Parts: sequence; C-alpha cells; structure tokens
Amino acid sequence: MTSTDLPTSRPTSVSTARSAELMARAQQVIPGGVNSPVRAFHSVGGTPRFVVRADGPYLYDADGARYVDLVCSWGPMILGHAHPQVVEAVQRAVAAGTSYGTPSVPELELAVEIVERMPVDQVRLVSSGTEATMSAVRLARGFTGRDMVVKFAGCYHGHVDSLLAAAGSGVATLGLPASAGVPAGSTAATLVVPYNDRAVLLETFAAYGDQIACVITEAASGNMGAVAPEPGFNEFLARTCREHGALFVSDEVMTGFRVSRSGYWGLDGAHEGWAPDLMTFGKVMGGGFPAAGFGGRRDVMAHLAPLGNVYQAGTLSGNPIATTAGLTTLRLAGDAVYARLDQVALTIQSMVTDALSAAGVPHVVQSAGNLFSVFFVDPIETPVIRNFDDVQRQDVHQFRTFFHAMLEAGVYLPPSAYETWFVSAAHDDVALEQIAQALPGAAAAVAAAGSRGTV
Ligand SMILES: Cc1ncc(COP(=O)(O)O)c(C=O)c1O
Repeated sequence: MTSTDLPTSRPTSVSTARSAELMARAQQVIPGGVNSPVRAFHSVGGTPRFVVRADGPYLYDADGARYVDLVCSWGPMILGHAHPQVVEAVQRAVAAGTSYGTPSVPELELAVEIVERMPVDQVRLVSSGTEATMSAVRLARGFTGRDMVVKFAGCYHGHVDSLLAAAGSGVATLGLPASAGVPAGSTAATLVVPYNDRAVLLETFAAYGDQIACVITEAASGNMGAVAPEPGFNEFLARTCREHGALFVSDEVMTGFRVSRSGYWGLDGAHEGWAPDLMTFGKVMGGGFPAAGFGGRRDVMAHLAPLGNVYQAGTLSGNPIATTAGLTTLRLAGDAVYARLDQVALTIQSMVTDALSAAGVPHVVQSAGNLFSVFFVDPIETPVIRNFDDVQRQDVHQFRTFFHAMLEAGVYLPPSAYETWFVSAAHDDVALEQIAQALPGAAAAVAAAGSRGTV
C-alpha cells in the first residue's frame, strides 16, 4: 500500500494498552524499558508507543494506530521508511553474507560517495555517531599533541566521556561531568562555551590557545531544538582554529546528507570557501542501519592506525549490510529529494506558525536548513534562539500539551522540547494534510492549558 492509498483521517485507536503492556515487560529487562533514553517519554510523560511497522511517512504501533512520523528515526530516514529500493538492496546484501571482517566493496563505494559529497580527502567508517566523534577527538589530540577540546553548551556529540561536559560558571571554564560515571578527569580538558558567541571563543583561545587540540561543533545545532549558526560563525571557528594551530571538527552526524547533499557545509562552507579539518557523519549515511564515519584532511587522517599511531578499530566497522543501505540511500538522495525535504519542512513550519498564531499562543519556529522546531517562548522577549540559555526560556509544559494533542491526532513529534523535527521525501500531501488537520486542535489545547513556566 502506498501512502496515497491510506485514508486521510487516522484510524484512531483509543487504546495504548498493548504498548503499555509491552513497556511494562520491557522495563523488567531493559533499564527504563528503552535502549536510548529519549524514547521513554520522560520529558513529556505518557505511554511510549511500541512501533511494529513503518512505511513511507508513517509509523504503526502495537495497538493498531498510525502516526505521521516527524522523527524519522532521529534523522536517518530521509527517503521515508522501508523504501522499496533500499529494502531490495539490503535483502540482496544479506544473502551475500552479513559480515566479513575483511575489506569489502560496499564500504569502499560508500567512502567514495562520501568523499565526493563532502570536503574530506578520506573517511574512516564506524558504527555510531558517538564512535565517530570520539575517534575524531582522539585523532585531533594525536595530530596536534594537545589535550584540550572546546565544545558548545547545548551541542550534543554522542555519549563520549570527554564530550558529556556541562558548562561551569564563568565564561571560559573547564567542563564539569554532565553524567554520573564520567570522571572529573575526563572532562577536565574540555572547555564548554556558549554557542554563537565569538567573544567568548576568542577569550578562550587567548587563555588556552596553545593547549587546544580542537573545537568541535554541530554544523548547525539540532540537539537543543533547531539553532542555526549565525552567518559566518562556522567560518569564524575554522579561521580561529587555524590561527592557533587547532583543528576544527564539524559534527554533521545529524545535518550530514540531510540538509543538503553536502550537509550543512553545503549551505555555508561550500559558498564561503572554507572546509573543516575533520567532519563526523552518521544517521542518513547508514540508511537506517548502524553506520557512521569521520573524515578530513589527508595529512590528518594519515595519523590513524594502521598508517599512524592514533589507534582506532571496530569489528563491525564498514559492515556490508549497513554500508549497502547507506550507499543505496545516498544514491537515491538527489536534487529532487532535497527539494522535497525543504518544501515539506517549510510547509510544516508555516502550518505550525499559522495554527499557533490563530490560537494566540506565543512561540518561535526556527530552522537550520530543513531541520526545524517550535519553541514556546515569548517572541517579543526572545525573537531568536541563539544558544542554550535562550532555549531554556521555553515553556516545556506547553510543549507537553502540544505533543500529546498531536499524538492523539496521529502525528508523532519528537518526545522532547529539546529536539528538532525531521521530515522525509515520502511525506506526501496526504501526510501533510493529516498534520494540517491535527494542528488547530493542538494549538487550542496549548492555549487552553496556559503557561506554567520553564521547568
Ligand atoms: C550531532 C550529533 N552527533 C553525534 C551523535 C551521536 O550519534 P549516535 O547516537 O549514532 O551515537 C548524535 C546523535 O543524535 C548527534 O545528533
């Protein structure tokens, strides 16, 4: 069945009984019932949906409800779920053996495709975005012979010890562990600074410049909602690093191959004429399977084992099934796909703005390429969200109300006010119409619930 054959109104299931039952079982054997915390709905409350099938722009849950999916597996599914050509390529690859532990053709071809799209000479494939950023930071340290890493508050780079750092007090402070189990020593060489703030970055380099191995940033932040770099900010980071002998690491795990064929760099660096020293990739390049990578300048990448003395390895790195899925996805992701993603993103943003404005709900909708999110803030006080401090002004209670009203109406939003929304090229006009039908009720629910503050 294609999405156009499906009814426009959602076949509603009043029950979440089956999901609740499965969650109760899952909680017995999996901590919190989930294998990644945000799936547990802790910040919005309610019953996480157990998904049993996905197709095009839709998720189907264990109670028989269908949802228009605006999470897309947190980014990878730019072609929609179960794209027939990806499924077929994967089925063929599986029949040829699932893992070799040797060099193989799909990993080579995926590396060629990445190098062709991105400003990197070489790429090393790994299995998760966390592994990619962890390895890129190790390589930057090995290459420069320095230890310190600068990251931005509100940017997430996976659960790497040294990058799970929270800002201390003051402007250029050494990071504090943001999670139990991260030794203070692991974040002692991490400096956490505010996003989009050139003055603090310069101050940080003035204080620690000759000890800084790299600055790592999301190419555009999607992990505090959609917060784009201000024009020229990434170029400024690249230049400042160069002036101080540090490396600039652009994390495109979320933006890469999604916001353009060359990621966010395709929207800024490609036009401004600069390139990061190292980049990290994930999500889309795995086509829904665990594949990720990091790449960059040839002279830097040459420091990796087996050529150099920076050790990095992986039993399933470059796995033939994952790389086949990623390669097939990227080959299908041409200009028409990116045009559709942009169009769908713009359409949903204006529908959200119209519905909330009509209901008199103060808000700001922001985008970074085709990533976008809504912040329930007063647009007079905070017309633009520039950094994590601004993000924290949002009314998360209003988001909760909005999220659940949309879910009830068959639209699956990210279950947190701190996440960006993701679209796919399979979001057709039928799916968009379902979102349009859901929004006025959700906006009215937010207006009726009123404001209860930020915590
Ligand atoms: C920008 C960014 N970097 C790194 C990661 C970590 O990737 P993974 O979850 O595959 O380990 C994420 C995950 O969301 C991300 O958004």
